[in-house]
Amino acid sequence: MNNPKSHPVSLHGKRILLGVTGGIAAYKSAELARRLCEVGAEVRVVMTKNSEAFISSLTMQAVSGNAVRSETFDEEAEAGMSHIELARWADVIVVAPATAAFIARLTHGFADDLLTTLCLASESKIAIAPAMNRVMWSSPATQNNINQLRERAITAMGPDSGDQACGEVGPGRMLQPEEIVRQVNELFSSEALTGLRVLVTAGSTWEAIDPVRGITNLSSGKMGYAIADAAVHAGADVTLVSGPATHPLPNRVANVIKVTSAREMLEAVMTHLDGQDIFIAVAAVADYRPQTQAASKIKKQGEEVLRMEFVRNPDILAEVKEKVPDLFSVGFAAETDNLISEARKKLLAKRADLIAANSVSGESNALGSDYNTLQLIDRAGVVSLGPALKTRIAVDLIQEISARFHARGTLQSTR
Ligand code: C5P
Repeated sequence: MNNPKSHPVSLHGKRILLGVTGGIAAYKSAELARRLCEVGAEVRVVMTKNSEAFISSLTMQAVSGNAVRSETFDEEAEAGMSHIELARWADVIVVAPATAAFIARLTHGFADDLLTTLCLASESKIAIAPAMNRVMWSSPATQNNINQLRERAITAMGPDSGDQACGEVGPGRMLQPEEIVRQVNELFSSEALTGLRVLVTAGSTWEAIDPVRGITNLSSGKMGYAIADAAVHAGADVTLVSGPATHPLPNRVANVIKVTSAREMLEAVMTHLDGQDIFIAVAAVADYRPQTQAASKIKKQGEEVLRMEFVRNPDILAEVKEKVPDLFSVGFAAETDNLISEARKKLLAKRADLIAANSVSGESNALGSDYNTLQLIDRAGVVSLGPALKTRIAVDLIQEISARFHARGTLQSTR
């Protein structure tokens, strides 16, 4: 199950902000944008003023399928997606071509146009494809800048060596678009969950009483959806099985199966279990369902007390572990009291590898909230995450899961 898998060039669901600066190689940026889109990436282009002397924004818009931005304070564009949102949106910022002047401004933290501002405001990876005259490239100033950028984990792709537009021969040519796409793909192949398949349950379940009534709970789906999205971001191939939820589905998850009841959720999970590496059960599954579901709406008959019989629902997490004992599985525990000791019981009862426990009492009630605090419990101890936005907690949780998953692989292979 944990076999390493090969990684063909696929940037499906990746959000790439392509920065174009003012060098002659900018004419190749259109080809680059087209190729990035071809391998599944979503591309948004930001151009500097000088780049517009080499390629038109209309061309870049046509090949990327999105409006091109160049002004920091463009009212209309800001209303759609502010530059801070754009900085957060990107999984990677690729600047191709990157001129010597741009590299210098990036090195020294300038924020004097939209592209440099985005680079400064982003926590995403940044990669640059330098393109300039060979003397400019070899100059101590540029080489110092490049070394500083490398120390900051900014990737320099190329440059290539050969004939230059200025008639000289030497290093400084921008890499071919095809090679840039390959290297962008490589940036992602070292991610925490690259090549792994992750199955996530999220949302609530609806247990019907009759055609118009049922039993459910207040789960919004926010935490589970954020986890599914963070797993995609970490390179996983994610399948999301979701019960009813008020939150919009995460649009980067390619495989989404919508279900209603616990039994439907179990069936969907079992159908998609084959080949999964990690199972994360976030759904708030009803423990019981009405013993019978009336085919027609139940009429009141004048009784003061209405009694209803309930039967146990299948425990999806436990059944998954029963079927595939080796599957790395993560459960959630929402508790009002004795958070840690209850979570420990759950870890053993469900034979989970990790339990993420969160309080659902009083002010710390995470249900429906944008915020959460998690205690991660496994056989090694307890780790706390948050309080923080659920989207942030999800990213950290995925890192914790990945670290444990990979450590387990190492332990198993050294046994
Ligand atoms: O037993 P309890 O409902 O407290 O356990 C919570 C954990 O078990 C969550 O990860 C939840 O998704 C999972 N679960 C499940 N099937 C159930 C009940 C809970 O997968 N029927």
